[in-house]
Amino acid sequence: MTMNVGIFIPIGNNGWLLSENAPQYKPSFALNKEITLKAEHYGLDFVLSMIKLRGFGGKTEFWDHNLESFTLMAGLAAVTTKIKLFATSASLVMPPAIVARMASTIDSISGGRFGLNLVTGWQRPEYSQMGMWPGDEFFSTRYQYLSEYIQVLRDLWGKGQSDFKGAHFQMDDCRLSPQPQADMKVICAGQSDAGMDFSAKYADYNFCFGKGVNTPKAFAPAAQKLIEATAKTGRHVTTYVLMMVIADETDEAARAKWEHYKAGADQEAIAWLGAQGAADTKSGADTNVRQMTDPTSAVNINMGTLVGSYASVARMLDEVAEVPGTEGVLLTFDDFVQGVEAFGQRIQPLMKSRVGADTPVASQVQPEALAA
Ligand SMILES: Cc1cc2nc3c(=O)[nH]c(=O)nc-3n(C[C@H](O)[C@H](O)[C@H](O)COP(=O)(O)O)c2cc1C
Repeated sequence: MTMNVGIFIPIGNNGWLLSENAPQYKPSFALNKEITLKAEHYGLDFVLSMIKLRGFGGKTEFWDHNLESFTLMAGLAAVTTKIKLFATSASLVMPPAIVARMASTIDSISGGRFGLNLVTGWQRPEYSQMGMWPGDEFFSTRYQYLSEYIQVLRDLWGKGQSDFKGAHFQMDDCRLSPQPQADMKVICAGQSDAGMDFSAKYADYNFCFGKGVNTPKAFAPAAQKLIEATAKTGRHVTTYVLMMVIADETDEAARAKWEHYKAGADQEAIAWLGAQGAADTKSGADTNVRQMTDPTSAVNINMGTLVGSYASVARMLDEVAEVPGTEGVLLTFDDFVQGVEAFGQRIQPLMKSRVGADTPVASQVQPEALAA
């Protein structure tokens, strides 16, 4: 089966590398447009932007600079024609009836290419800075909150009306029109037991973190956990795994870049991230947050990393596609503009798992890309 490929576009400064030695850049519409148009050109399936409301500081001012997800995706919807677009809802501070309408609006702009990533929020300062953190008990109730939230969304998208009554939301003949033309797809990235159960019950895709360096199948237990959770709900929900690609002509050249980024790790920003992860004592030990905030290798928030030649990366991505229950991969790069270009020109044409995808014909890819 063809594996879907998406790009986690850099809505925050410096993408996902907390390093003084990594490319330093601010987020902008122009940058994200360039990356998204390249992704569309190379036949990639989707782009997703996160929501991040407070950065980590440090010398690199990591994620102190972030655009807003819906407004960015609305702009991208207007300049693209084919690629699917996902925005992330800061569910704690954006009421579902408003988000349903924003989604309906971007559905209209994009002609049915829009979907939603729902997050509960896991960093208190993002919300406490605006007086909207409900208290630390939220760490244990956040998926109950999100369950009510999505029921309101589905009511409004599906029938244009909601009378949902719950502990967090009380709708009173709430209306939405126009309703979206597309069957609105919902992503969740839950890793805790409650998060996985939520995805199995309500989402269409569950995103998880890849693990380790050049261990493309190490996330398999998370995919397995989702298979078990969906066996209980009987719904079709598949795993998409988040990976960073650091590629070059040779394995050695790629490895040298990775070592260079690690040598410049922004320890101050990493320490702040670690403290945020530790604040959640309620969700259990095996969560994405625990993984991404583990200070031992947090230079790219411990995202699964594929380092190597274009051919090595293509081979490892094919291994990702072999993990049961996995339908797609979400990619980040050290340098997104070069990275997406190299993916389209050099990596994708070598991937068996992309045969059958709607990618440019061989004649549009430069000949050297096809050399083994
Ligand atoms: C691909 C991906 C995208 C995510 N996007 C966001 C985001 O935009 N905002 C956010 O606060 N958390 C984001 N997260 C964190 C998750 O929503 C979730 O809180 C985290 O994976 C921990 O899982 P848990 O909440 O079940 O413990 C993302 C995680 C992944 C893997």
